[in-house]
Amino acid sequence: MHHNSVLLHEAINALNINPSGIYIDGTFGLGGHSHYILSKLTSHGRLIAMDRDWSAVNIGEVLTKQDGRFSIIHAPFSKMLRCIYNMNLVGLINGILLDLGVCESQLTDSSRGFSFMRDGPLDMRMDNSVGQSAYEWIAKASQKDIEWVLRTFGEEKLSKKIARSIVLKREVYPIDRTSALSEIISDTVLYYNNRYNRRKHPATRSFLAIRIYINEELVEIMKILQDVFKLLAPGGRLVVISFNSLEDRIVKKFINQYSRVFAYPPKIPLTHTQLLHKYSGTMKFKNLGKIKPTVLEIKKNIRARSAILRYAEKLIYM
Ligand SMILES: C[S@@+](CC[C@H](N)C(=O)[O-])C[C@H]1O[C@@H](n2cnc3c(N)ncnc32)[C@H](O)[C@@H]1O
Repeated sequence: MHHNSVLLHEAINALNINPSGIYIDGTFGLGGHSHYILSKLTSHGRLIAMDRDWSAVNIGEVLTKQDGRFSIIHAPFSKMLRCIYNMNLVGLINGILLDLGVCESQLTDSSRGFSFMRDGPLDMRMDNSVGQSAYEWIAKASQKDIEWVLRTFGEEKLSKKIARSIVLKREVYPIDRTSALSEIISDTVLYYNNRYNRRKHPATRSFLAIRIYINEELVEIMKILQDVFKLLAPGGRLVVISFNSLEDRIVKKFINQYSRVFAYPPKIPLTHTQLLHKYSGTMKFKNLGKIKPTVLEIKKNIRARSAILRYAEKLIYM
C-alpha cells in the first residue's frame, strides 16, 4: 500500500527526525510517509497527520487505534495553525511535510472523477463533502472564466478554443462525466493542433487546471506557507514535494525570499549583535536546497517524474 510514496527516503532524511520530536504530515494520503516517520520516532515522539480527503482520513483512523503516537485530522492543511493552536503546540513542531497533489488511489478511483483515463462522475473534489464539483462549475462558469482557469493553472495554449467548445457542448448535453469532458477537450486540441504530441493525452493540462481550481490548490499552499514560521520550533524543518511548476514556483519563491543571506565573510566568528543582524528581518530560513527523484525511482513510479522536493530549516536566531 505504501510503496508508491514519492521521494520517501529523501523526504524523511530532509526532515532530520528528532526521535522524540513532534511532526506533521499535512498530506497523509495512504500514509506511506507517515509510517516511515513513525518508524524513526521513539515512544516520546508524536506525529499529527492531516488530509482533506475522507478516504485518507479513514485509513489514518485505523492507524490511530494501533499507534498512540499518531493522530489524524480531517481538514485542509491551510487550517493547520488553527488545529495546532487548539492542541497547544504552536512553535513546538519539529518538522512539517507536504506531499502535494493527489494520490494514485484518488486518480484510479473512477468515482472520484479526477481522471480523463477512467469514466466517472465529473467531481474532482479532494473533499467531496464541501464545495462545488467540477461538473457544477463547468455547467455555470462563463466562457471567459473557463478560459482563464485552463490558461492560468494548466498553461494550456488552446484555452480559448477549449472553453468555447465546452460552452457550446453544454447547451446540447450536460457535461457530467469525465469521459464527456475528456472527449470535448481532445477533439478540440486535435482539431486545432494536428501535430499534437500524442505521448501526452490532450486533456492532461485542462484536467490538471480544473482540479487545481476546484480544490484551490495554490491558495492552500500560499496560506500554509504564511503560517510555517509560527508552527515550527527553532531548527524545525519544512519539506515540500511539488508535482508541477506552479506549485514549485510558489515554494521556491517563498523559501528564497525568507532565506536571503547577508554578506558576511565566511568562517569568521560573528558577535551576538552581528548574528542578530544577520538573521533579522527577512532571514528566517536556512535554504537547504532541492532534491529530485533518481532515474531508478522514475522508472519504478512514473508519477515521480515531475516531483521536486524543497526543504528549509527555521533559524534559531530570528
Ligand atoms: C500525494 S498524496 C500523499 C501521499 C502520502 N504522502 C503517502 O505517502 O501515501 C496527497 C494527499 O494530500 C491530500 N491533500 C492535497 N491537498 C491537500 C490540502 N490542501 N489539505 C489537506 N490534504 C491535502 C490529498 O487528499 C492526498 O490524499
